[in-house]
Amino acid sequence: KEIVVSGIRPTGYLHLGNYFGAIRNYIRMQEDFDCYFFVADWHSLTTHPDPKDLKGNVMRVLAENIASGLDPEKVALYVQSDVPEIAELYLLMNMLAYVGELERVPTFKDKVRLQPDNVNAGLLTYPVLMSVDILIQRAVKVPVGKDQGQHLEMARNFAQRFNQRYGDLFPEPQAFNYGDSLVRIPSLDGKGGKMSKSENEMATLYLADTDEQIRKKLSKAKTDSSSGEEGAPMPESVQNLFDLMKLVSTPESIATFDAAYHAGTLRYSDLKGQLGEDMVKFIAPIREKAAALQQDTQYLEKVMKAGAEKARANAAQTLHQAKKLIGLNYYQ
Ligand code: TYM
Repeated sequence: KEIVVSGIRPTGYLHLGNYFGAIRNYIRMQEDFDCYFFVADWHSLTTHPDPKDLKGNVMRVLAENIASGLDPEKVALYVQSDVPEIAELYLLMNMLAYVGELERVPTFKDKVRLQPDNVNAGLLTYPVLMSVDILIQRAVKVPVGKDQGQHLEMARNFAQRFNQRYGDLFPEPQAFNYGDSLVRIPSLDGKGGKMSKSENEMATLYLADTDEQIRKKLSKAKTDSSSGEEGAPMPESVQNLFDLMKLVSTPESIATFDAAYHAGTLRYSDLKGQLGEDMVKFIAPIREKAAALQQDTQYLEKVMKAGAEKARANAAQTLHQAKKLIGLNYYQ
């Protein structure tokens, strides 16, 4: 079976972007691939989270993944920091990563702009650590949203560079999404940005939102005031709502609203009302399951432990090979 790796940072409540960019793929992939899914807790340390929040945040990501349909019996579900082999390979891979190329990564440049007072070395080498998360399991497919595409390109570069210098070890991983291209769920504020954990809460739908919050956020979602002129392209803010409908509504209901839009009779409040109800039906069961699971720390700890064992066993083999190829094998 082909190997799959993907990770999510425990930096806040999971939202629709995480679900439709990543988790939805995980759930299908668990049936057909050898899957390694993890909580990227080391990655979250670049922003110096409060130590007392970390465990709760990690547990919540685990619970939200399982509540969404991930089966820990079928996949290795683990926490990054439980796999120290990753840190060792990261050290080795840093020797093949050039400061210039890391400084040119768009996500790094964004951070320099947005948080100039905390441009730490961990941020700079973030793509190296992320590449190692993937390469250490020898993954070929990586289900992620569109925002991670560039990082996957770097992972392929590091794999190639290592293979060329020391000998073939790493397959070149590809970003993956069922369907043709990587997904990008936009923010509800209509400003063109993506939905994200740190964003304005009103513009982000979280898997933990109450029914009321979901309805309210959608009713306040940005829509263009000019409704459908003959032949004019749909404004982006309206297209965004139709895109969300495609994720949670029935084809019939989408067709009805689409026809109304083109006939110039669509009332946005009707569209948002329907989308709100469909979204509530989608999110509520996940929210409730996740809340229950989060209470069961014993179960979650068991999952983490079993996941880490499987992830470590596979990672240790790769690390052993890597060290041997580099020449770091001094004992018989
Ligand atoms: P993170 O924690 O920001 O996001 C987790 C996953 O959710 C996807 N995503 C989105 N997809 C579509 N639309 C959106 N608005 C949206 N927002 C988030 C992300 O693309 C991602 O798949 N660097 C990674 C974590 C990571 C990782 C890895 C991923 C660390 N090591 C190895 C894959 C493989 C990140 O920050 O994701």
